[in-house]
Amino acid sequence: MSFSPRDFRDCLGQFATGVAVVTARANNGTKAGITINSFASVSLEPALVLFSVDRRAATHELFAGDCNRFCINILTQGQQPLSELFSSPVQDRWEDVLFEDDGHGVPKLVGSLATFSCKRHAIHDGGDHSIIVGQVKDIGLGKTGDPLLYYGGRYHSIEDIPSGNS
Ligand SMILES: Cc1cc2nc3c(=O)[nH]c(=O)nc-3n(C[C@H](O)[C@H](O)[C@H](O)COP(=O)(O)O)c2cc1C
Repeated sequence: MSFSPRDFRDCLGQFATGVAVVTARANNGTKAGITINSFASVSLEPALVLFSVDRRAATHELFAGDCNRFCINILTQGQQPLSELFSSPVQDRWEDVLFEDDGHGVPKLVGSLATFSCKRHAIHDGGDHSIIVGQVKDIGLGKTGDPLLYYGGRYHSIEDIPSGNS
């Protein structure tokens, strides 16, 4: 490899993304969620989307294991605290979180910009991540508002994305 992991991460960070929380419910009823920015659309017909989950993440076992339903919640700028919550080692991430059932037993975050209720379609090897492909069964267009953005390893609002590399 002709580059360091740090340089690789810095280059990846030049790709500005939105932020989502993927939520699910384990067979024993426990709610789970993880902040991701690896969301991508895959196919229109059938409707497929994907995200990748780190093999070291506590939720990996769920998303790549026995849980075959999940909901991808696209966050608004105002939901940055939820992004922080679902990306930090908090004992009970759900204590103060407003959610409702997505109609398939999966908790859906109230106030999201859009939601994709998915049935797992495929799992692919993605190196130290697993690539989870979901078939979209239901969608929700939620609040109007600005998306939460992630760029250069930091959160941004849509107005403050700088131009150039400075
Ligand atoms: C903006 C942002 C995007 C992230 N994207 C991903 C991602 O796409 N896949 C992933 O596995 N982790 C991602 N993470 C890291 C996880 O959210 C974090 O490691 C989380 O604590 C894992 O939770 P778990 O160990 O309970 O599963 C992201 C974190 C942030 C702040």
